[in-house]
Amino acid sequence: MVTIILIIAAYLLGSVSFAVVASWLFKLPDPRSYGSGNPGATNVLRTGKKAAAIITLLGDAGKGWLAVVIARYWSNTEGLGNEVIAGMALAVFLGHLFPIFLRFKGGKGVATSAGVLLGLNPWLGLLTILTWLVVALVSRISSLSALLAALLAPVYAYFLLEQEIFVLTVLLLSALLIIKHHSNIANLLAGKETKIGKSSSS
Ligand code: G3P
Repeated sequence: MVTIILIIAAYLLGSVSFAVVASWLFKLPDPRSYGSGNPGATNVLRTGKKAAAIITLLGDAGKGWLAVVIARYWSNTEGLGNEVIAGMALAVFLGHLFPIFLRFKGGKGVATSAGVLLGLNPWLGLLTILTWLVVALVSRISSLSALLAALLAPVYAYFLLEQEIFVLTVLLLSALLIIKHHSNIANLLAGKETKIGKSSSS
């Protein structure tokens, strides 16, 4: 019963879209109404308001990290096992992707998955974020950076994580993140993907 309540709580936490919250705080338009329409830090940055994008990034990553930290605490103190950690990690991510507060139309999960990975294993999180940064510095394309980081994260997880259930969790997170980037993949293949901070591909 406790496990189910924790998983629902993680889903609800994930459903809080910091892109929408930060946009409201800075009196910006709803991020679903411009650019890629994605409620995420990359799209919020297209308004030019860096502080709002940073709040989005930190908030969305923070909720992923927090869910795993809370899960770990309950797992340790109540002896709930690793299933609750994997369950809450997946639930907070699914909350971000399919938020109940936004009629199930959420973000693509980049920042939230980074937070989850940092919570599972700091080295895993840092290595994945470093991958994103290197690709972003070279390409200036946020989605390409996220896709390559998502492809490599399960490889890093395989070598860094001891428990198979967490490697599978990372694999699932990456698969969902890649599926959520289907329109970006189409844009990349057509050479039309927008660069970071730009409102169009030109
Ligand atoms: O954070 C999501 C990023 O990978 C792509 O965002 O707005 O360019 O679709 P966007």
